[in-house]
Amino acid sequence: MSFAIEERSTRLSDNKPHIDPYPLSPYAAWAGNRNKDAILHSFEELFPTKGDALEVATGAGLHINYLAPHFPNVRFQPSDYDQGVFETIKAKRLKGNNIADPALIDLTVSSTWPNADERFYDVIFVINIFHVASLSIAEGIAALGAELLKPSGFIAIYGPFKLDGKYTTPSNEAFDREIRAAGVPEWGLKDVRDIERETRTHGLALKRQLDVPASNFILLFGRS
Ligand SMILES: C[S@@+](CC[C@H](N)C(=O)[O-])C[C@H]1O[C@@H](n2cnc3c(N)ncnc32)[C@H](O)[C@@H]1O
Repeated sequence: MSFAIEERSTRLSDNKPHIDPYPLSPYAAWAGNRNKDAILHSFEELFPTKGDALEVATGAGLHINYLAPHFPNVRFQPSDYDQGVFETIKAKRLKGNNIADPALIDLTVSSTWPNADERFYDVIFVINIFHVASLSIAEGIAALGAELLKPSGFIAIYGPFKLDGKYTTPSNEAFDREIRAAGVPEWGLKDVRDIERETRTHGLALKRQLDVPASNFILLFGRS
């Protein structure tokens, strides 16, 4: 996936801006802001009250900074492969809160991953990346989970997906058409079954699939 690197506005708009997955774009800010409460409500039921959570593909840090104050005894680790977003993540942090400095983690390059001897995670989560990334991201998340999750830990993947080769709603079909029209080969809704296949090779299995507003799923993967 390649993004333009020029400075862009993060101003929030009520109207949907043009699709642009660059983490600091008005579109990424608009989409993230729109779904943050639905994610929070689901995570409140899923997350442990105490422990460690790693976010991959954190982007501008909108979600991690919104979620963390609701889990005061969970240590949150933001990460991304684009170090250009780290200052934005840090600028949003409240002083003395439970969010670590962002880490460089490229899901497709295992040499960038944290050392498993140093910390194991209760949760690894990722929000809104699969529709603008290749399926190899799923393999990366599964391999990372297999290395870094505690035995009872889980991966939570939020976003829009197809299921058994079908769209689950007309709005998702329209959204898929819209992103495919951009002509980027790896963009487009992925199928839950394809993600499952990638995770199985690393000893993980789909444990739950939650319907969340705006035609999205939260997919939960744990050790088989
Ligand atoms: C559409 S943005 C979503 C950002 C954020 N999760 C949100 O919901 O606002 C996609 C993010 O994925 C990150 N990303 C893309 N490919 C990646 C990779 N191979 N490893 C880690 N992060 C990646 C980008 O840098 C970007 O921050």
